[in-house]
Amino acid sequence: MKRAATVLILVTFFFSFSCKESARKKTAEFKPFTPPVFYEEAMYRADTILRKMSLEEKIEMTGGHNMFFTKGYERYGIPALYFSDATQGVHIRNELENQLEKSTAFPCPLALAATWNTELAYEYAKSIGEECRAGGIAVLLGPGMNIYRISQNGRNFEYFGEDPFLAARMIENYVTGVQSTGTMATLKHFLCNNTDFHRRRSNSVVDDRTLHEIYLPAFKAGIDAGAMAVMTAYNQVNGEWAGQSDFVINGLLRNELGFKWLVMSDWWSAWDPAKAVKAGLDLDMPGHPGNTVYNTPEFESMYVRTNAKKLVEEGKISAEDIHRMVKNQLATFIAMGLLDRPVKDTSYLHQFEKHEQTALQTAREAIVLLKNTNKILPVKKESAKKILLTGEFAEKNAAGGGSAYVEGYNRINMLHALQDEFGGQLNYRENPSTGEIKEADIVLLSIGTSDNEGWDRPFALPDSVDSLIINYAAINPNVVVIVNSGSGIQMTEWYDKIAAIIYAWYPGQTGNRALAEILSGKVNPSGKLPITIERQFEDSPGYPYIPEGKTFYTDWKQDNDMTIPVYDIEYNESVFVGYRWYESQNISPLFPFGFGLSYTKFDYSKLKIIDKGLNEGGELIVEFTLKNTGEKEGAEIAQLYLRDEASSVLRPEKELKRFEKVFLKPGESKKIKFTLSEKDLSFWDELKHQWKAETGSFKVLVGASSADIRLEKVFEYKTGL
Ligand code: BGC
Repeated sequence: MKRAATVLILVTFFFSFSCKESARKKTAEFKPFTPPVFYEEAMYRADTILRKMSLEEKIEMTGGHNMFFTKGYERYGIPALYFSDATQGVHIRNELENQLEKSTAFPCPLALAATWNTELAYEYAKSIGEECRAGGIAVLLGPGMNIYRISQNGRNFEYFGEDPFLAARMIENYVTGVQSTGTMATLKHFLCNNTDFHRRRSNSVVDDRTLHEIYLPAFKAGIDAGAMAVMTAYNQVNGEWAGQSDFVINGLLRNELGFKWLVMSDWWSAWDPAKAVKAGLDLDMPGHPGNTVYNTPEFESMYVRTNAKKLVEEGKISAEDIHRMVKNQLATFIAMGLLDRPVKDTSYLHQFEKHEQTALQTAREAIVLLKNTNKILPVKKESAKKILLTGEFAEKNAAGGGSAYVEGYNRINMLHALQDEFGGQLNYRENPSTGEIKEADIVLLSIGTSDNEGWDRPFALPDSVDSLIINYAAINPNVVVIVNSGSGIQMTEWYDKIAAIIYAWYPGQTGNRALAEILSGKVNPSGKLPITIERQFEDSPGYPYIPEGKTFYTDWKQDNDMTIPVYDIEYNESVFVGYRWYESQNISPLFPFGFGLSYTKFDYSKLKIIDKGLNEGGELIVEFTLKNTGEKEGAEIAQLYLRDEASSVLRPEKELKRFEKVFLKPGESKKIKFTLSEKDLSFWDELKHQWKAETGSFKVLVGASSADIRLEKVFEYKTGL
């Protein structure tokens, strides 16, 4: 009865907020967030308060309190502020007081990236910001945005995929979405935390060009969008821990990217407090050992808060350093209005229904149809009388674990969602017999992975799972594999033996309804891969990275093990990450970046390039027409890539520069227009330490994925110099 009511609400919502609605408007001019109190005024007010405080009082504020709180002083009007995880919704911490009763579990951020829908990124994040307000959370510990370099990274589900341009566009909208509610966003983890394999013991060795072209753009976009906080990473970057690296914080983050607000460490990740303070860190989190492995004498010297007094006395840091840390913190909180209004606003509790619907819409647009032989999908209800459902996540929750975990409410599992959609036509068997597999008109086989913070997991599935799929395919030609995972998985052994593959990510609390709607054809799939899925891990740019003799693990004890020698991860592939790698190496992946099927067809035509003085700092307009030539309404994600035909440095075959998600009715067409600038033609010049566009031919490539280019045209560019 309860479930039926939810279905009704969601179906009603579907008609009022369809794919068409959310993909309808072209994103208007992007507007960054401006805090309610300007920087100068906030700094001035912070100074005024700080002048009244003793050094000891200020020192108390350099580290967190109670694991997720900052130190407050009622007498100075400074509230103790609650920082909470994370990018895919509010992680309720039952061990703390005054928690929200519930929070919405959204599809994982990698799924959000698969929607390529920037407006949805805004709505998704706004919903999370509102739940923070409802729960008295001042600072959201997200969005996470580390680039997908290694498919095995246990935290890929928390991030936005392999392409810096796609990630940047999603992140800027995420940031403005969260912060529009008065909740602060935290960009994390700065920088190059691209694996979770002994993340506190890895050193990412990466060159300047690669940093600028691949790993910095999403952070830059978040900062330019007005993000109020940044969290440093666990790993070392070029030989120093990110949380105490002058190069990372003072150099890249402050000087180059111009970030003015709060910089915090990741939890227990700055080891030398003097270095951390001097490097530009403002807040050492959580600032004390708590009940953790860092509770032993050998770690006593790592905390800024407990060591600062001594360090000042020894002259290793100064009272001005402490003043700066606290001033940056306070100015950030003042700018955000947190000293002028309560954080908690329970009126947002009334918005939860809307949030749940945004979560559902995200799943609808995120699910990627990777294979659909003989148009087996959507399921033809008239002929497919016997639908067999089986497999790992039919009943079990598919979700990423760790600090990003969100329990959700009204969670509907795959079995119940499909029962609601297909009624008596659906049979569920945990272990179907050969006869049952054979007799089914269609077999829905659920597989996937349970990815987790703190460790990586193999790209390949266990042999038993591969064999099971192959076995099913030998019995019944109509096997549809449904994948729930937070990253790529190896499908090479069986992808050609089965009828269809649906990549459904971690769907969040209502995402299985979206799956059911896609299976039945109520919703036309429109998600496209924000990652490349390789044939085998050895093909990938990140291979190898696990130190010799070491193996995968799945526990926090190993994650915290500080006795393991620091190991180097050489980013030798340089800028050739994701499709840039596979294309430059002529390795054909199993599924390319940007790929995803639809139940309809789209035609691309009439590519036109209009040069409006690009050479003189003007623009290049690219126009083409997109038409739905199939029989169903649906959304296409049109992608524009650029190729530099000849360059003084090695450049990728193509780089994504623009995209647009367009909803079209059958027979409908639309003229798409993109505007490019000189910056889009540029690479990072390591010698001059700036972006550089070189004279020569460039090719515009327009298509449905990185490997499905439908239109191309060359244009000439002449540098103004
Ligand atoms: C994670 C962060 C998280 C923090 C607080 C760390 O282990 O790396 O992403 O925000 O914990 O929960």
